[in-house]
This record gives sequence, C-alpha cells and structure tokens, in this order.
Amino acid sequence: MFPIDKFQDKRTPFYYYDTQLLRQTLQTINKESGKYDNYHVHYAVKANANPKVLRIISQYGLGADCVSGGEINAAIEAGFPASSIVFAGVGKSDWEIKLGLEKEIACFNVESTEELEIINQLAIESGKTARVAFRINPNVGAHTHANITTGLAENKFGIAMQDMETVIERAQQMPNIKVVGLHFHIGSQILDMGDFKALCNRINELQQQLESHHIKIESINVGGGLGVSYDNPDREPVPDFKAYFQTYATHLRLREGQQLHFELGRAVVAQCGSLITRLLYVKQGTYKQFAIVDAGMTDLIRPALYQALHKIQNLSSNEPKETYDVVGPICESSDVFAKAIDLPRCHRGDLIALRSAGAYGEIMASGYNCRPLPKGFISEDFK
Ligand code: LLP
Repeated sequence: MFPIDKFQDKRTPFYYYDTQLLRQTLQTINKESGKYDNYHVHYAVKANANPKVLRIISQYGLGADCVSGGEINAAIEAGFPASSIVFAGVGKSDWEIKLGLEKEIACFNVESTEELEIINQLAIESGKTARVAFRINPNVGAHTHANITTGLAENKFGIAMQDMETVIERAQQMPNIKVVGLHFHIGSQILDMGDFKALCNRINELQQQLESHHIKIESINVGGGLGVSYDNPDREPVPDFKAYFQTYATHLRLREGQQLHFELGRAVVAQCGSLITRLLYVKQGTYKQFAIVDAGMTDLIRPALYQALHKIQNLSSNEPKETYDVVGPICESSDVFAKAIDLPRCHRGDLIALRSAGAYGEIMASGYNCRPLPKGFISEDFK
C-alpha cells in the first residue's frame, strides 16, 4: 500500500495521501447520495485544504463548506464553483463577508442576529443580495468527544431554537437578505446513526413549527459529522455512506422540492491520509521503552488535543513485537501518540505510519518549537 522505497529519501515527517482510496471514497459518496433527489454534498474544507487533495475533491462535483475567507479562496483556487460554497462560522470578519458577497457564494450560514445585521449592511453597501441559512442549535447531543460536540444549548454555535422565528421574520424584512434555509451540525466523529436520527426528528418538529407561522424553507443543511474507523482503517477504508444517507432518507421529512445539503469533512479524507515519520531512538526508560519519532504534536495534534488514537504501523520491520510508548520530540508531556502498544521490534531509521490522519492532520499542524510545517504528498508524487 505504501511506496516505502520511494519514501526513503524524503525528509520526514510528511503526510502521504492515497489518491486511489480518496477517489474510491468520492465515488461511493456520489453513488450513495445520488440515489436520492435533491441531495447535495459539500466538502468541509477545514478537514484538509492541501491543494492537491482539494483539486481531486472538486473534480467529483462536490460543493465546498468553508469557515473563513482563506478557505473560500482556497476552494475557488482548487476549482470549486463559488455558487457551490456555503460559508459558516460564529465570527465572520467584515472582509470575509465582503469576499463572500463579491464571489456570490451559495449561502452564508448565519449564527446570530448580530451577524445578520452586519451581513445585511455590507450587502446593501455592495449592492448585492446575501443568501442566508440560519444555523439553529438543535440541542441534540452526539456521542463523541466533548471537544467536538457542537449541537448542545451550552455550545457557542448557532441560534437557539426559541429565537428561530424572530430571526427569520426579521431577516425577511431586510432588503438585501434572502432566506434560503436552515443549517444544523451536531458534532464530529459520530458513528451512531441514532444521533443523526435524533437530529432528523428535531428538524421535523422545527419545520412544522415554522409552517404554522407560514414560513417556508427552500433548503436544509444538516452539516457533517460522519465518523470513520480509527481502529481498523484497513477493514473499513470507506465509511458507511449508504447507512448515513439512508438514515436521512428514512427519518427526515423533506417537503416537495426541498434541497438537502451535507457538509462532510472527516469521512471524505481521513482514511486516505497517513503521517509518515522516522524513528529516531528507542529509549529504555525505567519501566517502559519509548519509540521516539521525528513527528510530534505539531504535525498531528489530535492525540494530544482529543486523546485520539491513530493506528501506528512500523513499515520497516517484521520482527517479533515489543511494547512501546510512541512519543514525539516536542517539549510537552502531552506529545504522545500512543502508550503501551505492540509494534514489530523498532530500530533507528524505521519508517512509521500514523494512519487515518487525512482529516484534521496536516491542516492543524503548527510551527511550535520553530518546527517546519510537514509537507503533504499524494501517491502520484511518487510515480
Ligand atoms: N459543518 C460544520 C458546521 C462543522 O463545524 C464541521 C466540523 C463540519 C461541517 C465537518 O464535520 P466532519 O464531517 O468533519 O465531522 N478537529 C476535530 C474536528 C473538528 C470538527 C469541527 N467542525 C478533530 O480532529 O476531530
């Protein structure tokens, strides 16, 4: 699976993207979402904005979900049509709103009345009409890590359900605002379809409530959140998109002609990416042995930030297994990728892969300790 020989002369650490798997994933998304009328999938650019990866995704006709002006520019650069871009975020700056207006993006996902007023004002100034969807906080919990659940009333995201009608009615009076829909997102790395079902039920209730006030909604955006198997990337390389889209088809009551939008990030790119690192030292501690690698939390922060476990593979050794703590070189005790895992006996120079790192890996890298940012390569770069 990995062109290990060709990795030898590359400076480590780096990200490696298997484009065959990426393409297979995109084909599955198109096949499964294409079974339903009016389903539109946007790729959540925040998961991975490597230009080569973005370009491939845009070729499969997905729209883009952006959360900053930088992401809007990156998406357009990679070939996503501006008319397929939705723009979310609790704190959009004026220049970002102006950029969205100028590019005539599909929709601003608006998270507060305060923001709505500014979008209207800037739209008036630029002589444009802003299409908006309101991000409603559905108060639906997701069974995932506390740092990546977003749909509870206590979170900073979205507009409270009880304020929904007031905001929509206010927007309908604004000359340069066109209300197109509702937006939701309950969290990330969700594997229990019951969580998405709970969201569907809540949306059904809200739609009924709006209809009783004669408010009609053109489109519904249910956000992203579909998780991947970090334990078994080889057994489940492509997430279960069939079950995912089916859950919405079964439980969400769409009205005639209504569009349903999705914003998938992790499920699109996680499994195609690995962080490739080189083993520097096997250090014998008092009670354990450490495999010290040249990648650290600056290159992949998920284990330190969310206690995430990425499967670790020694690509260079087939020897009997030993137990290691795999750690990076950063001056922080949280710079640990895994504790007490079994790996084929490790040696200085071995190439190690941290799997399922295509989402929220390269893009979250930092220059802490003045370390250079890791580069990203796709399989074609090694041909
Ligand atoms: N839509 C909205 C409004 C979002 O906030 C997010 C992710 C997505 C879509 C895409 O969600 P996905 O399909 O990727 O689950 N850095 C964390 C994940 C943060 C997710 C933030 N929002 C991690 O590494 O697990």
